[in-house]
Amino acid sequence: MSTPVIVLVGPMGVGKSTVGQLLSDRLGTGYRDTDEDIVTAEGRSIADIFLEDGEAAFRALEKDAVRAALAGHDGVLALGGGAILDEGTRELLAGHRVVYLSMDVEEAVKRTGLNAARPLLAVNPRKQWRELMEARRHLYEAVATVVVATDGRTPEDVARAALEAVELKDV
Ligand code: S3P
Repeated sequence: MSTPVIVLVGPMGVGKSTVGQLLSDRLGTGYRDTDEDIVTAEGRSIADIFLEDGEAAFRALEKDAVRAALAGHDGVLALGGGAILDEGTRELLAGHRVVYLSMDVEEAVKRTGLNAARPLLAVNPRKQWRELMEARRHLYEAVATVVVATDGRTPEDVARAALEAVELKDV
């Protein structure tokens, strides 16, 4: 059984994949992303899964994908933005090195804008973002070992700050 060196959580569009790949390069490990695992296993996009089967079905797939990746991946692992909604998933994250990448609403709108691939922000992104974060902020904070703010920072800066925060900077 392996365990990820770092688990990245945070809202959609915060840069988990970009920062995750930088971290994995820096640490010389693999990179894995539970959204990608689900897309590969299902052979359809996340947007299609939401549309065809609904959010609850997606969350069930996500829960299994996170469990499998936490037990079977020893590199950097990024979770989909809503993975922390599941209580069992939050319990599984206890004891892992979890980095919460945060951003404020203006940064979020700048980065995700009107991205149709993100079904939860497709309509009125600013309002939906606020609502999502009101429901989720405390959950991200609850599972986080450290919080790294990404506002106005490049992915390289964020990766550096994350390594310093979890004290892997000498790797
Ligand atoms: C979601 C985030 C997405 C994806 C799905 C739902 C969410 O992942 O899992 O669209 O509920 O926040 P990213 O955070 O990787 O965009």
